[in-house]
Amino acid sequence: MPYDLGPLGVQNALSTTLIGVGALSLASIIYTVGRVLLSTFVLPGQSLSSFGPKGSWAVITGASDGLGKEFASQLAAKGFDLILASRTKSKLDNVANTIKNKYSSTEIETIAIDFSKATDKDYSNLQALVEGKKIAILINNVGQSHSIPVPFAETERQEMESIININCHATLRVTQLVLPHMLPNKKGLILTMGSLGGLTPTPLLATYSGSKAFLQQWSNALAGELAPQGITVHFVQAYLITSAMSKIKKASIIVPNEKNFVKSALSKIGRRGGSVGFASTGSPYWSHAVVTFAITYLLGPMSNLLLVINRNMHVDIRKRALRKAERDKQQGKKTS
Ligand SMILES: NC(=O)c1ccc[n+]([C@@H]2O[C@H](COP(=O)([O-])OP(=O)(O)OC[C@H]3O[C@@H](n4cnc5c(N)ncnc54)[C@H](OP(=O)(O)O)[C@@H]3O)[C@@H](O)[C@H]2O)c1
Repeated sequence: MPYDLGPLGVQNALSTTLIGVGALSLASIIYTVGRVLLSTFVLPGQSLSSFGPKGSWAVITGASDGLGKEFASQLAAKGFDLILASRTKSKLDNVANTIKNKYSSTEIETIAIDFSKATDKDYSNLQALVEGKKIAILINNVGQSHSIPVPFAETERQEMESIININCHATLRVTQLVLPHMLPNKKGLILTMGSLGGLTPTPLLATYSGSKAFLQQWSNALAGELAPQGITVHFVQAYLITSAMSKIKKASIIVPNEKNFVKSALSKIGRRGGSVGFASTGSPYWSHAVVTFAITYLLGPMSNLLLVINRNMHVDIRKRALRKAERDKQQGKKTS
């Protein structure tokens, strides 16, 4: 016969259960917040020298401007030789000369490839540059977003295809051709640039958002695949950074400059920072870590509301961008 608790017994059992669940939830919140704080502000990431000795090579895509240029400069400062791939040869050569003037012993090779329409020949030219070199680091940095937020139905086919070719296809091809030159060393780093635009679905940037979400899933899968072979695969989530892509020139608390962002990214390899989820994804810059944490952990359960807020924000950005384009056009007409 089942044991009869009686009304008081049921009440006691219920309160014990509620207290237990409350204590577990609180412990989980304290653990997660503590982990984020330690990871973002205290604990160092894996040291760059653990991926290869001085004089081994780093391959960087999109290296002629913005974050890629900064990755190149900071990796040269750490003693890595560089293969820089990007679209504009003259800009690549400028970057190489500037780095050479500062770090004269750095060996630098450059290759101009337009990743929006790269051919097999372009990839074999890159393959030829990589051949015979000990590659310690690959920075999958090249990326393109929409020129302004745009409804998917109105997105020009060329823009749509460029985004997918550059962000997804080129990243996969370059990684596949570099990886065989890393595997024999049983160590190395594959770092891929992500975006909060891919972490949360972003209306009016749907193709960019989808491309970065693809990269995030791909990078985490690759991390699981390559860990037994000693290769670190790390995905970096970023919010806004001053650069040509963001069209923001002035740094602020929430928008770091390229130098500070890259410094934090390179010093937090293997740390999650504000990211909640796989250890192979991190949000390294402190204010971005706060935003990432707020979006995923605090607002995650309200994801539909987040989608509406995100849509309204990008509708507003589009309106302002169109108004500015109209103003520029009129001013152009007046001066001509
Ligand atoms: N800036 C941000 O706010 C932000 C936020 C989140 C994530 N990210 C990500 O960070 C990465 C770098 O962004 P960024 O802000 O540094 O961009 P950026 O300043 O616009 O620089 C982009 C770089 O990629 C190169 N590139 C562009 N299109 C190319 C093509 N078709 N073929 C070859 N190279 C090409 C550019 O070469 P050229 O010399 O020819 O221009 C340049 O070197 C991207 O993956 C981006 O999605 C940026």
